[in-house]
Amino acid sequence: MTIGVFDSGMGGLTVLRALQRRLPQERFIYLGDTARLPYGTKSPATVARYAVRLGEHLIERGVDLLVVACNTVSAVALEAVAELGVPVVGVITAGARAAVASGGPIGVLGTEATIESGAYVRAIMALDANIAVHARACPLFVPLVEEGWTEGEVPRTVAERYLGDLGPVRTLLLGCTHYPLLQGVLQQAAPGVAIVDAAQAVADDVVAATGLVGSDTAGNASASTGYLVTDGAARFVALGGRIMGHDLANVELIDV
Ligand code: DGL
Repeated sequence: MTIGVFDSGMGGLTVLRALQRRLPQERFIYLGDTARLPYGTKSPATVARYAVRLGEHLIERGVDLLVVACNTVSAVALEAVAELGVPVVGVITAGARAAVASGGPIGVLGTEATIESGAYVRAIMALDANIAVHARACPLFVPLVEEGWTEGEVPRTVAERYLGDLGPVRTLLLGCTHYPLLQGVLQQAAPGVAIVDAAQAVADDVVAATGLVGSDTAGNASASTGYLVTDGAARFVALGGRIMGHDLANVELIDV
């Protein structure tokens, strides 16, 4: 099976990594729309237009399933992608499930578009209507991660400001592809809080959607993976390699 995974940039590699570990026999094509990032500050109509183009391109390349690793696309444009004709798995229901399993009150962090859509709050309330949810847009986090500023005083101060008025939470749901890379400073800013992201739960959903048998051993991924980017291939190789923990081969620059 060929599984297409797409995101606005390289942050979705955090989801790809989890998928490769769970499904080491499958082939993956990862598409990062680095030319148009960020999506999180754009309107739902624009995000949907971009996302449909990415989905169409991956389908032309023969993918059997689309995984929308981008939280912003999953929040505002999943229906548009789902009309393309192949099964689609987004990250919102998976993330909500992981957060509810961890326990409330839940703090949800995401881009402006994701938080404004209310998608996470709706998904969490659908699972447990009595759970308290506090949502917060954190627009500075994506540029910090893109700059590689994931540790130290600056991201820690930003994290403290964002979390300072969030209200008491037991679980922090990282509702954006980039935020798992800030896990360290977020944990420092919210000691004792459980931090969850959607990656593992998305892998569960992909296993369920495909009927494939997932591996439960977190060994080395042996899947063959191609990488497509719409700009800045060298930057993607450098930063993406850090996320994946190995050098990225097969990176192709495309125009969609
Ligand atoms: N991939 C986006 C998300 O998960 C974050 C980056 C962006 O704003 O494009 O919401």
